[in-house]
Amino acid sequence: MTPVADFNKEGLGNVLLVAVSVCLICSIVVSSAAVLLKPQQQINRELDRKQNVLRAAGMLPTDGSTDSEGRGVDELFKLFRVRAVILGSGEYTDSVDIESYDQTKASRMTDTSRDLTASEDIATLGRREHVALVYLLETEGVLDKVVLPVRGYGLWGTLFGYLAIEGDLETVAGLGFYSHKETPGLGGEVDNPNWKEQWPGVSLFDESGAPAVRLVKTRSAEGSTAATHEIDGLSGATMTSRGVENLVRFWTGELGYGPFLSKLAAVVSP
Ligand SMILES: Cc1cc2nc3c(=O)[nH]c(=O)nc-3n(C[C@H](O)[C@H](O)[C@H](O)COP(=O)(O)O)c2cc1C
Repeated sequence: MTPVADFNKEGLGNVLLVAVSVCLICSIVVSSAAVLLKPQQQINRELDRKQNVLRAAGMLPTDGSTDSEGRGVDELFKLFRVRAVILGSGEYTDSVDIESYDQTKASRMTDTSRDLTASEDIATLGRREHVALVYLLETEGVLDKVVLPVRGYGLWGTLFGYLAIEGDLETVAGLGFYSHKETPGLGGEVDNPNWKEQWPGVSLFDESGAPAVRLVKTRSAEGSTAATHEIDGLSGATMTSRGVENLVRFWTGELGYGPFLSKLAAVVSP
């Protein structure tokens, strides 16, 4: 008998040896891929963030990665000054590294965020981070736009996006969501360019300075003050519409970017 004939491939030891070897090889391949692809994933995340900021500001088309003058994402994003802001006071801070600061992560940790009471938490956030990033666009020394990260609960989960405000710090320049769980065709219509088109020009605050945006089923009379704060609600998606209204109101209010916007307004037009 030859040694090959002696080899019992169905023996328990050999079956285990093959199984363990396959598992080992697979785990080496998967972990190597995870480690090797990490830098590329980081680059892609960064590119995505820049594109979303630019799209909210209306500087990049929804379906393209260059503007009408052929400028790419990096070139356009360089026009922005990114600053960290203490939300409670509205003051700038250098306490976080802007390149690596993860605002969403900070909102989950007790030492970098605060709990919101039920009456404060109109956007169903649970907690609110102490420090947020803001994106400032200045043209020849004059504030042109400010883009703010925003989020809030819809029907199925949290919508994450950016709210762009004009240099007057009162008028919406654009609103876009880059992540949400709403149903396509219903709440998912937050991504519909026709619906998004209504946001530029909307007035954020009432005469007392309180957040005033409303998503409505029926618009107020054209030319009325109420109409300047209104956006069409999404049909068949009352919960998502309420979520969007609440998140815009939260982030433009006292617990959101309100103190920062007031401080910035005092600098822009003292
Ligand atoms: C499968 C399914 C998906 C839905 N997705 C959403 C959604 O994404 N956003 C939302 O507000 N309502 C959604 N709804 C509808 C809500 O459950 C609810 O009926 C609706 O908010 C009522 O709003 P209306 O007054 O606009 O009809 C969904 C309903 C079903 C059955």
